[in-house]
Amino acid sequence: AKFGDVDVHRGQGGEVHQVAGGDVPTLTTQQGIPVADDQNTLKAGERGPSLLEDQHFREKIFKFDHERIPERVVHARGYGAHGYFEPYESLADITSADLFQRAGEKTPVFVRFSTVAGNKGSPDLARDVRGFAVKFYTREGNWDIVGNNIPIFFIQDAIKFPDLIHAAKQEPDRGFPQAQTAHDNFWDYMSLTPEAMAMVMWIMSDRTIPRSFRFMEGFGIHTFRFVNAEGKSTYVKFHWKPKQGMQSVVWNEALKINGADPDFHRRDLWDAIQMGDYPEWELGFQLFDDDFADKFDFDILDATKIIPEEILPVKRVGKMVLDRCVENFFAETEQVAFHTANLVPGIDHTNDPLLQGRNFSYLDTQLKRLGSPNFTHIPVNAPRNATVCNFQQDGHMAMHNPKGRANYEPNSWGGEMGGPRENPERGFKSYPAEVAGEKRRARAESFADHYSQARQFYLSQTEVEQGHMALALTFELSKVETPAIRARVVSHLLNIDEDLAKTVARGLRLETLPDPAPAARPTRMDLKASPALSIILN
Ligand code: HEM
Repeated sequence: AKFGDVDVHRGQGGEVHQVAGGDVPTLTTQQGIPVADDQNTLKAGERGPSLLEDQHFREKIFKFDHERIPERVVHARGYGAHGYFEPYESLADITSADLFQRAGEKTPVFVRFSTVAGNKGSPDLARDVRGFAVKFYTREGNWDIVGNNIPIFFIQDAIKFPDLIHAAKQEPDRGFPQAQTAHDNFWDYMSLTPEAMAMVMWIMSDRTIPRSFRFMEGFGIHTFRFVNAEGKSTYVKFHWKPKQGMQSVVWNEALKINGADPDFHRRDLWDAIQMGDYPEWELGFQLFDDDFADKFDFDILDATKIIPEEILPVKRVGKMVLDRCVENFFAETEQVAFHTANLVPGIDHTNDPLLQGRNFSYLDTQLKRLGSPNFTHIPVNAPRNATVCNFQQDGHMAMHNPKGRANYEPNSWGGEMGGPRENPERGFKSYPAEVAGEKRRARAESFADHYSQARQFYLSQTEVEQGHMALALTFELSKVETPAIRARVVSHLLNIDEDLAKTVARGLRLETLPDPAPAARPTRMDLKASPALSIILN
């Protein structure tokens, strides 16, 4: 029989069967056993009951019942693609990292863009920070830059992260909102977290409603460390500059797009790559040393601060091209596991307390999310250009156990039988940074200025962009039901820009203007706006 242009066989009950033959493969069970009938369970008699003996049915339902894995605790909604990175020149003078040694040599990458707060099924154009995570499959192992599209973060210390995320995601009693930042808990937490004020200005800007992933910048945020072959260290901040330029939508468009096409951003990336319009970013470094770092009155280990680009220009060192969509969304985009501690020789951490906390969190969460300590055996997570060779073994779903007799070292078996050995020359060595001092929890005083860069960012925006920020603040806070929370946010704005604070207060119909929030350090009113931070529409 035919259904339109499709050849089918009809069963006795009228159901549709399609059969293998020619170049159409045979359907099998997980054991590879060919299946004759995939439309009917095995039954006793004409009308049942169904028989437990039907292994094919039981296996098929068993697999289906277990399809879901936990979504990421943050950045649950994301979209990934493959591509490559290629440096413009050798950077051997600043880092021994293998991928930066030879101009024009390609290193494969996998990138996952995401929103932060929304659940897996939430709309793409929520006002939110976007994740920008890149895995480089280098010849000396996998290196991840797990970044965002905004160069700073909400908090200075990782111990605050669970509270930040609880406050940003759905409220525990009502289970909403699923994606937007506009609610009491979020603004309550913000208003009681002065260190978040610079980030509040960035998230109220047009950067949190990007036109698509292709039109966003990316940032590693923390100060990292490069080490060259002579052991010399250089601090580095990582930047991704989109060759497409930067674009955002306006809030009115975002709301409509979310309704009409909640998949707007993932569709855009898929379509662009399928059409051969491959998006590109340039990788940039801000490079500096301790003397330079000491000149600032803020701390370069504080993730709520930028180093302005006109003070320290971004050196563009190479480009990344995304030229291949995933073959399977779950296998690749869902199962990919990025980790700030995935570093290769020549790149190292600093003492940023946010970064140090992240270095614990990712591996920990991925065991739970992916269900086995062997998630590095999943192809998207496995090194592609480096060989894995060690004595680690077993656990759920082990695919690559040690070969031969030895599964320990030192051992007295030589050659292949003895397995791998340490490599003092090529192996990863931590930079011998000096550490001293008493154990303490108190935060360093160098982290205390929470308003100067908030002000600097606001002043860096064009008049139109500043107008968008005032509207965004007014809109968001108008969704906050508790008047004291609204007033508290305005009290912070008074430390950032008085006109902005007054505009928002008027928009919210506040009867009286609150006093400015108490500040640990006064705002530096002399800081100039930073033109390089302004959104460039091209
Ligand atoms: C996931 C960025 C801070 C814990 C992610 C992802 C990105 C990201 C891009 C998604 C990765 C993907 O696409 O699979 C950042 C940035 C931060 C930051 C830029 C600050 C500079 C933190 C902190 C913690 C944390 C402080 C915890 C202490 C997590 C966890 C996940 C995650 C648990 C889920 C990972 C997974 O399930 O694979 N983060 N994050 N993040 N982040 Fe962060």
